[in-house]
Amino acid sequence: MKIVALIGSPRKGNTFRACEEFREHLQKICNVEFEYLWLKDARIEPCKGCFVCFPKGEDKCPHRGDDVHVIEQKMLDADGVIFASPVYSMNVSGLMKTFIDRISYTGHRPRFFGKKAFFLVTTGLFGAGDVLKYMKTLAWAWGFECTGTAGLITPNGAVPRERAEKNTQLLKEGAQVFSAGLLRTTPRRPGVLDVIHFSMGRGNFSQMETVSPADYQYWKGQGWLSPDAKWFMDVPLNPLYRAIGRIVEWHAQRSCRKYVGLETCNSRWVEPEGERG
Ligand SMILES: Cc1cc2nc3c(=O)[nH]c(=O)nc-3n(C[C@H](O)[C@H](O)[C@H](O)COP(=O)(O)O)c2cc1C
Repeated sequence: MKIVALIGSPRKGNTFRACEEFREHLQKICNVEFEYLWLKDARIEPCKGCFVCFPKGEDKCPHRGDDVHVIEQKMLDADGVIFASPVYSMNVSGLMKTFIDRISYTGHRPRFFGKKAFFLVTTGLFGAGDVLKYMKTLAWAWGFECTGTAGLITPNGAVPRERAEKNTQLLKEGAQVFSAGLLRTTPRRPGVLDVIHFSMGRGNFSQMETVSPADYQYWKGQGWLSPDAKWFMDVPLNPLYRAIGRIVEWHAQRSCRKYVGLETCNSRWVEPEGERG
């Protein structure tokens, strides 16, 4: 199995050391090939806010040609992805945030189904829980199956022995959870939030053929707009969740037609003067 670790730290410090220890625990349990993807070494231009990727497609991004699509492809080729970031000002690092913004269209066009994600955060003291939650929510919206987290307290300088032991314990437990996820081949059954996520997307994007053709065509191409599609993947669905999904979809369609009228929406996507090309 192939694992890529996306490193959001600008240095080979606590986050990298934690990743190395996690890799050792993981490789004792299962046979994995490990690759580090250092965001600090990649060419990643900050998002310009032009909105082009959402309606027109990521291939139209003015920064297409830097390393974002290379990293994204490596994530797509892997069985599992480790999202690793230090806490910076109670959030992910700037490097990680810039990358996240650049693949924001994935929230509209999720593509990581069947892939497992693990989340590793290091912090001086505060913020690990919030940052883990933030990264998990995003990865979930992109299609990942979230299998395990570790939030480590790693004060600058020497980590006290008791704290180091606790961190090791968290990494060992995390490796167990992640490996169990990696070894499981059957997709998990969607919960009610998964179904609501799908149904809202379907309700909205089914109405956006003109306004957001990249989204519409992607959903259509995946077969997600077909009447038979119940979820992103063809898996058994709880009938109650399906019924809730139908109501959500109906409501999303209605709101979309009402509030995102074609004219309003088209004008919203117009690029500012001087930003074209
Ligand atoms: C710019 C910056 C901002 C930070 N913000 C926080 C913070 O909000 N809360 C906290 O507890 N630690 C904070 N820290 C400490 C780091 O999260 C912690 O030392 C982390 O383990 C560093 O990881 P690294 O060695 O991989 O860079 C900050 C560190 C830096 C450099």
